[in-house]
Amino acid sequence: MTLEDLSFTPTTSFRIADLATRQDEVVRIAEKRAIDRQHAKGKLTARERIDLLVDPGSFVELDQLARHRCTEFGMDANRPYGDGVVTGHATVDGRQICLFSQDFSVFGGSMGEVFGEKVLKVMDLAMTLGCPVVGINDSGGARIQEGVVSLAYYAELGRRNALASGVIPQISMIMGPCAGGAVYSPAITDFTVMVEDTSHMFVTGPDVVHAVTGERVSAQELGGAGTNSEVAGNAHHRAADEHDAIEWVQVLLGYLPSNNLDPAPEYTDDTDPGITAADLELDRLVPDALNQVYDMTEVIARLVDDGEFTEIHGAFAPNMICAFARIQGHTVGVVANQPRCQAGVIDIDASEKAARFVRFCDAFGIPLLTLADVPGYLPGVDQERGGIIRRGAKLIYAYAEATVPKVTVVTRKAYGGGYAVMGSKHLGADVNIAWPTAEIAVMGAEGAVQVLHRRELAGLPPDELARARRRLTEEYRERHASPYLAAERGYVDQVLAPSQTRVQVARALRALRTKRQALPAKKHGNIPL
Ligand code: HXC
Repeated sequence: MTLEDLSFTPTTSFRIADLATRQDEVVRIAEKRAIDRQHAKGKLTARERIDLLVDPGSFVELDQLARHRCTEFGMDANRPYGDGVVTGHATVDGRQICLFSQDFSVFGGSMGEVFGEKVLKVMDLAMTLGCPVVGINDSGGARIQEGVVSLAYYAELGRRNALASGVIPQISMIMGPCAGGAVYSPAITDFTVMVEDTSHMFVTGPDVVHAVTGERVSAQELGGAGTNSEVAGNAHHRAADEHDAIEWVQVLLGYLPSNNLDPAPEYTDDTDPGITAADLELDRLVPDALNQVYDMTEVIARLVDDGEFTEIHGAFAPNMICAFARIQGHTVGVVANQPRCQAGVIDIDASEKAARFVRFCDAFGIPLLTLADVPGYLPGVDQERGGIIRRGAKLIYAYAEATVPKVTVVTRKAYGGGYAVMGSKHLGADVNIAWPTAEIAVMGAEGAVQVLHRRELAGLPPDELARARRRLTEEYRERHASPYLAAERGYVDQVLAPSQTRVQVARALRALRTKRQALPAKKHGNIPL
């Protein structure tokens, strides 16, 4: 019996017992049902996910007793508390966050009016508190019974995401279906993680794709974690399971400030001020032969605290590495070419990946460390037709606009547009370092000789040709493909042995902590989209 059924004035103890009954209904009874349904599908429940994500006992639930007001399709006979989404605030590693967790066991986690009100309310709270918001998605999308009202709330959510962008970090976890227009809220947020096998994201599902284009494709192939993390680039991390997804988000939050006005969390600085054995290993890392590759993550690991970093978008455009790390206890965003993948060339995906990362770091005051070993932008019909001009420009725009401290190290090749875009002095980098192995030039020596000496070489007999080409290539490399012409002009501030780099980068970033730079006043720029 509840208060609504009573014909007498209830006592205080009755009212308290009535509240307990309602709470029991929301949490214990509904959760049992949710466990049965979700576990059968290999998924955790909305509440289990929250419990794993946040500090024990820190979750404060809001609007637990909210219920929908829909009377269509017999909905008035089924008005579960919570309306298919659990919202509230909590701490992760002692730091405040707001969150919502969609409950697929209630109306398929679909967005109706009250569901929407709850989500918007917690987003507004995150903006008021200035703390990250984490959205756990597991939903059939717009609640069909509520029609246009649910569409309105998706648009409202997108507006909140856009206004919060650059103010508070926004993280999306895709833990089940996320389809139709529902995908656009996660797409606007800063980081999206997807779970292998149990999550998918697409604008139209396999059936609609087949009806419209005749193509047959599975949900996983169309929008599973693999497709979205490796091919489409919508997911920044492909988690093996839900626990992995949650741990990744916890680690990510540890690097981020709560909002654009607060500094990122600082950790104890126990870095060695002298040259270490790991530093000396850097002196042997770049191979003597130019066409031999090395792993840029080996460089990153030797420059950052404890060799630890977290890659963002690790499976997408692996020729460009974007990662969060710490140097002297302070968060940095690392942007680096990966010589092991396509020689570290910049293609459309690499440009867009790095541009978005640079803009995130800039919005949240996170300094940038750029490691350049780049043969330039990728030539090719596909790239040109795909818009590498417009889309490659994003990275230039992002670096030029970024006012956070920017430190760049050229480890080997820095050719052509690749030199200019990868955190060059000319795009506003504060400290530029080059290793003696750096080759800063318009293009590689072989290509340059071919262009500059074409006529002269064309007249030579075959036995002399190879010798002449080798001589000219060596001369060019000696004169032009080194760090020293750039150093003469102050385009690089220091040429350093690799083993000195960690200490000097740390000093540069420490000196730059007080950097202040303002951009010309404007409403906003117009980055090529
Ligand atoms: C209401 C929904 C629902 C929805 C699922 N359910 N989606 N209820 N509105 N959108 C309900 C089901 O009726 C079912 O209720 C329960 O949730 C579980 O659904 P199942 O179908 O049994 O689950 P499953 O087999 O895992 O399939 C999941 C699914 C499928 C692939 C998501 O449910 C589905 O295709 N749903 C419709 C998806 C869709 O077209 N949404 C609209 C997208 S457009 P019972 O009572 O049986 O348990 C959109 C526009 C946004 O979102 C616009 C933004 C601008």
